Amino acid sequence: VVVAADQGGAVELADFQYDLHDKAQMVQPYGLWRRLRREVPALRSDRYGGFWFVGRYEDVRNVLIDHQTFTTSDGVSLPRFPTVMLPLEVDPPLHRKYRALLNPLLAPQRVVEHEDWIRREAKRCVEAIAGRSEFDAYSDFARPFANRIALRLLGFPEGDLGQLEEWTHTLIAGTRDDPVSLEVGAKFVTYLVRILEERELAEPAEDIISVIAHGEVDDRPLTPDEKLSLLQLMTQGGLSTMSATLAGALVWLADHTEDRTRLRADPNLMVTAVEEFVRYVSPTTQLVRTAVDDTALGGCPIHRGDKVLFGIGSANHDEDAFDRPDEVVIDRYPNKHFGFGAGPHRCVGSHFAKLGLRIGLDEFLQVFDDFELADRDALRWHVGEARELESAPMKVANK
Ligand code: HEM
Repeated sequence: VVVAADQGGAVELADFQYDLHDKAQMVQPYGLWRRLRREVPALRSDRYGGFWFVGRYEDVRNVLIDHQTFTTSDGVSLPRFPTVMLPLEVDPPLHRKYRALLNPLLAPQRVVEHEDWIRREAKRCVEAIAGRSEFDAYSDFARPFANRIALRLLGFPEGDLGQLEEWTHTLIAGTRDDPVSLEVGAKFVTYLVRILEERELAEPAEDIISVIAHGEVDDRPLTPDEKLSLLQLMTQGGLSTMSATLAGALVWLADHTEDRTRLRADPNLMVTAVEEFVRYVSPTTQLVRTAVDDTALGGCPIHRGDKVLFGIGSANHDEDAFDRPDEVVIDRYPNKHFGFGAGPHRCVGSHFAKLGLRIGLDEFLQVFDDFELADRDALRWHVGEARELESAPMKVANK
């Protein structure tokens, strides 16, 4: 199962150095997070120049909502990315101006216009594995489906999607500074710069690349750096988060026949189920803010300039906020999780992501009646700010 209920129990918290990039800690962190919520609500770590980790629902909520005390402008990752990610790493009021460009295209009433082609992509991706008795739920289905729809939404040319899918996967799977990531990263940036220039010369259109290419803030055109940064985050923000949620959902459903049966019998349940899969999987699992004033979290003083790593995955599994937090309850309602964040930086792509996940799961369940994990030990994870499944081999028995 995705959540192993009781790990972390053996850790000596007094000497413990929390490390978001340490696979040994992060592959199954739920037991550790449970203990930290109870025993050390604000834990100091010396890694990456020093930071606090907080994982209680209420503390995570405060960090997300109170952007005046907790800024993103000093980065949201550890260590910090070398370039500024827009619109994430700027505070209001400037932040609102960037969001005003993006929000209209991703509002719920606009997103539903994409339903037909998303469904065609889902059918195509399911058909590609339909005859097989074994496949990898992540690399053979969730990843190609999620990446293609996210890239197509942004307005990349159909013919480039395969290459882009490969590049973005390499970047997501690699560490940030290994030679392959650096080489692919350079090619990717060159490609994005070229496509932005092309769209700038073309008439303004409705796709996201075009809106960024022709975008303005404060009555001036966006600079080339602003355009590149916005497009890069829009490209990278959606791909692995959606594929990881989809793969995590399929792993849960592989183990829970009754949920598969209920979802097939009543597709309306997909709405609450997808929300719940985002809570349960929490692919963007921990992020960073910097305190701009002296304050307190979990009863512990936090000083101006301190980095705070806040646990979205931990808050989303906090027993004080959710009944049966380590289970998927497909009709859970209300479900006030932080899987998409909260406050000013709440995910701009959440409506699109939920629509894509609903359609992907729906098409998958229509073709695959019975499937199970081929090898529980073969589940593979990428860890860091994101905690994402990247391999999930399944055995299937077709209808
Ligand atoms: C299941 C899928 C997704 C999850 C779990 C997810 C999660 C998140 C989270 C937690 C944040 C808040 C970050 C913070 O407060 O520091 C965020 C912001 C963001 N997401 Fe998503 N995301 C998903 C899909 C997408 C998609 C499909 C797109 C693009 C089409 C996207 C683009 C962005 C952008 C641009 C931001 C920054 C918003 C801002 O700073 O105002 N995300 N996302």
